[in-house]
Amino acid sequence: MGIINILDASVASKISAGEVVERPASVVKELIENSIDAGSKNIILEVKNAGKKLIKVTDDGCGMTKNDAVLCIERYATSKLRTIEDLNSLITLGFRGEALASISAVSKLQIVTRPRDQSIGTLVEVWGGEIIDVRDTGCKEGTTVTVKDLFYNTPARLKFLKRDSIEFNNIYNIFYKLMLSHPEISFKLISDDKLKLSSTGDGNLLNCIKTIWGQEIADHMIEVKAQDRAVKVTGYISDRSVIRRSKNDILFFVNKRCIINKALYAAVLDVYKQYLTTGTYPVIVLNIDIDPRMIDVNIHPTKLELKFSDEHGIYGAMYNALNNALNPKSEVNRPLTSIFNINDFEKQGNVEIETKYEQVKLKETDIRDINELENEINIAVDEVINEGMIFYDDDIKYLGQVLSTYLLCEKDNELYIIDQHAAHERILYEKYIKEFKNNRISSQRLLIPTIIELKNDEKNIVIENINLFNTLGYEIDDFGETAIAIRAVPIFFDQTQARLFIDECVAYLSSDSNRTSIDEMLFKKACKAAVKANDSLTEKEARELIKSLLSCENPYNCPHGRPTIVRFTKSDMDKMFKRVI
Ligand SMILES: Nc1ncnc2c1ncn2[C@@H]1O[C@H](COP(=O)(O)OP(=O)(O)OP(=O)(O)O)[C@@H](O)[C@H]1O
Ligand SMILES: [Mg+2]
Repeated sequence: MGIINILDASVASKISAGEVVERPASVVKELIENSIDAGSKNIILEVKNAGKKLIKVTDDGCGMTKNDAVLCIERYATSKLRTIEDLNSLITLGFRGEALASISAVSKLQIVTRPRDQSIGTLVEVWGGEIIDVRDTGCKEGTTVTVKDLFYNTPARLKFLKRDSIEFNNIYNIFYKLMLSHPEISFKLISDDKLKLSSTGDGNLLNCIKTIWGQEIADHMIEVKAQDRAVKVTGYISDRSVIRRSKNDILFFVNKRCIINKALYAAVLDVYKQYLTTGTYPVIVLNIDIDPRMIDVNIHPTKLELKFSDEHGIYGAMYNALNNALNPKSEVNRPLTSIFNINDFEKQGNVEIETKYEQVKLKETDIRDINELENEINIAVDEVINEGMIFYDDDIKYLGQVLSTYLLCEKDNELYIIDQHAAHERILYEKYIKEFKNNRISSQRLLIPTIIELKNDEKNIVIENINLFNTLGYEIDDFGETAIAIRAVPIFFDQTQARLFIDECVAYLSSDSNRTSIDEMLFKKACKAAVKANDSLTEKEARELIKSLLSCENPYNCPHGRPTIVRFTKSDMDKMFKRVI
């Protein structure tokens, strides 16, 4: 690493400056990225109180001279970029020269560093942006950056931080992605003096995957190796048997940077939609190595989003790489970049190409159809029965099931059409709510407990919410490092559904949404367990369904708000057939 240089104003104004320090996890990301850029082989992260009290990153990288150690906390001080053209050949994770300046402005920061060729090190102490100490010190080669009392001088931001468990999960999520992006570096994460995650740095990505997701998932990963003149894709993707409820395990590393990109994501979904049902996802860990001139990382303050100069091409390359890996014998095994136009990469700037995943534009004819459909829906909704208008009694004449979806009944000169799927959802929904309120959701004990391995952060979420799972009919125990044992499941789930529902809850609880909305979970569960539209029902089952529906508190809508019953009166029918005007 060379000498730090302050970017001149014209370069500084062109790079996408932004607020990089939002929470402890953002500090972790910036410090570890600096250690990676410094060529470290070993990186240790220590946090206390989920990083609120202390974040310490120790590396054995190139270190800094005294001058650089003082300069590095200045804004736009970077050794990684000099001119705006350098962005085209960027191989480092950092380039804005902003991170340490931003972090030191809102914390008590200490840098202890020694370059490889010097015998004495430097200590720099900065509080709230003010340098309070610079002195020589004895220390190991490399750099240790300690950030204490983050946001101590900005109480409004401090208040904004979430509970320790959530902030720690954010740190964990950032950490394991950095670990996956560099299997050749040994990483250690220590939280409140406990080792939480570590990698050996043996360069084996599958070993890192095993550490994070567990043996079960690692056993079902398929290696991807594909190369072409313009792009190289390597890594692992899960086979068809792995079903995840959250998209969080789809990870792309472009030139070793974990990024979000719609084209890559669309290619994954398009390939896996042959194997997975809606709402389920694979585990994907893919490295895409590409000429830095063909990407733009400078479009988002946290460098999280990335744009390819040929988004269409990258979609095609990724689609083929994944498809080939999943179907090695497939007839449609195509070369990696069959849709890839290498010439597009030579062009400057972003090429605007209408891609497959972009929203389909409506044709004029579609619009007319939709308007008609809307009218039909309005008419139908008018026909939805209002509360209190229909009661179950023996006078209801069951006429039969049509189209394997609807139940027809007649009562008092009126025809009722019931959507059996929506009806069943409503019945189950009310049943679960009642059971839940009475604290007696029935569960069934499993003869042999199911042991599942989870990512560390996912396991924490389950353990933290163990009471919630109990109320939902589960019996779950901690089962060592990253595993849990499921001993009982809600009565209405089979084992697979029960497992999927845990994944769903974890995804739900770790999102920023209103996390304790139990109703919503029940609602989801009801939808899962409900009969599908195409189940054929016997007359007895159909009658039972109608009876149960009409005894619901609100028999008229499914939990999504769609109508469950539509009514036609005799006069409606007469009008339809023009018997009366
Ligand atoms: N762990 C480290 N080892 C060696 N040098 C470091 C380390 N951390 C920071 N530096 C030096 O300090 C400079 C400033 O770091 P800072 O993170 O603020 O900016 P950057 O990494 O250049 O860009 P960005 O703001 O995009 O991260 C770096 O360019 C690098 O020269
Ligand atoms: Mg940096």
